[in-house]
Amino acid sequence: MGSLVAGIGYIGARLAERLLDAGEAVVGLDNLFSTDPEAIERLAQHPSFRFVEGNAADDDDVGRAFGLGIPIDTVYHLAGQSSARADAAPIRFTEEANLVAPRVMLDRACEAGAHTFLFGSSLQIYGRRVSGQVGETHPFGPLLDMNHLSKVYVEKLMEMYSHNRGIRCVAARIGLVYGLGPVMKTDPRFMTAPNKFCHQAARGETLRIDAGGFQPTSMIHVDDVSRALVALSHWPLPGFSAVNLIGETASPAQVAEVVRRVARARGLDVSLEATPPETPIADCTFLSTLSKCAFTPERSLERDLPEVLDYFMNREDITPRPPLRRGEGEKSIPLPVPGRGAGGLGPEASL
Ligand SMILES: NC(=O)c1ccc[n+]([C@@H]2O[C@H](COP(=O)([O-])OP(=O)(O)OC[C@H]3O[C@@H](n4cnc5c(N)ncnc54)[C@H](O)[C@@H]3O)[C@@H](O)[C@H]2O)c1
Repeated sequence: MGSLVAGIGYIGARLAERLLDAGEAVVGLDNLFSTDPEAIERLAQHPSFRFVEGNAADDDDVGRAFGLGIPIDTVYHLAGQSSARADAAPIRFTEEANLVAPRVMLDRACEAGAHTFLFGSSLQIYGRRVSGQVGETHPFGPLLDMNHLSKVYVEKLMEMYSHNRGIRCVAARIGLVYGLGPVMKTDPRFMTAPNKFCHQAARGETLRIDAGGFQPTSMIHVDDVSRALVALSHWPLPGFSAVNLIGETASPAQVAEVVRRVARARGLDVSLEATPPETPIADCTFLSTLSKCAFTPERSLERDLPEVLDYFMNREDITPRPPLRRGEGEKSIPLPVPGRGAGGLGPEASL
């Protein structure tokens, strides 16, 4: 049996690698909206990978992906307009990619007899400032952009399809993803705070933290996400389930400090600018039922951000920063209480 990965982007490309390494046949579907075609070409070198360039909202394109003669047992739906920023795409594009495509994919998955449909939902479904214990039963919070609003619709759609059509559906509510993967973005509209800060540090730019950038969120490495998605595909949960995919709790402000420290060790002096938080920093603990299947994240910001910074520093198309003048431009920012996960997505983080 094989898997269909819709959306061979930042997460999907790493997931496809992992599935291929495990000996699976993988069909990839992507319209090349926000990915790196070279990464797809590298995947296409693998004899068990087939790629369909097409729109996940187009019934014929999706039909082509299911019609390659590879029996599809699991569908990983990671295709979508993934940015929270209004300037990332016309609203109609976002609606088609994030609302129509999941329905088309579910229809085709049911027709093809797929057993499991996994979807890349978001931890931001709980709102941008959460407090207390945040497990999967936590209520949805205010949603301020079309990308995250669409996650609510798709989760309910999956619940409906699992009930009406019998397909097992899992919404993976993914935290903020960081780390080195086969697809590395450089467009800030499509980057999360950790990778974006590394990119900015490599270019000698100031790291800016907005008022929301002090609130806690959960950050998870792209490698841990792909491992968790595969674990979920094997976990025998019937019907519809939503599962938090969490790593460590941190704020963009804390991540910026890590990036500054890592950069300093490489001879780069990085400036930070922060707008003070307007609301008290929330005290929250993210929980995940995935811990019941003995899944624990293996990566960490401290351990894995250095390779992201090195990657951007070594990219030829990244403008080198001016020579180091130690101490220049440093600005202190009020850091959240240590030991209490502080973090959270300000507009700084796009996804
Ligand atoms: N990266 C994160 O921090 C994060 C966190 C939570 C949830 N998510 C969700 O996980 C999913 C994958 O995220 P990502 O970081 O890999 O984003 P990404 O933008 O790198 O990947 C999305 C992929 O979907 C493709 N795509 C867009 N519209 C399409 C369409 N109509 N048909 C076919 N392909 C289409 C894009 O070209 C891209 O390759 C997204 O739905 C995102 O909202 C991501």
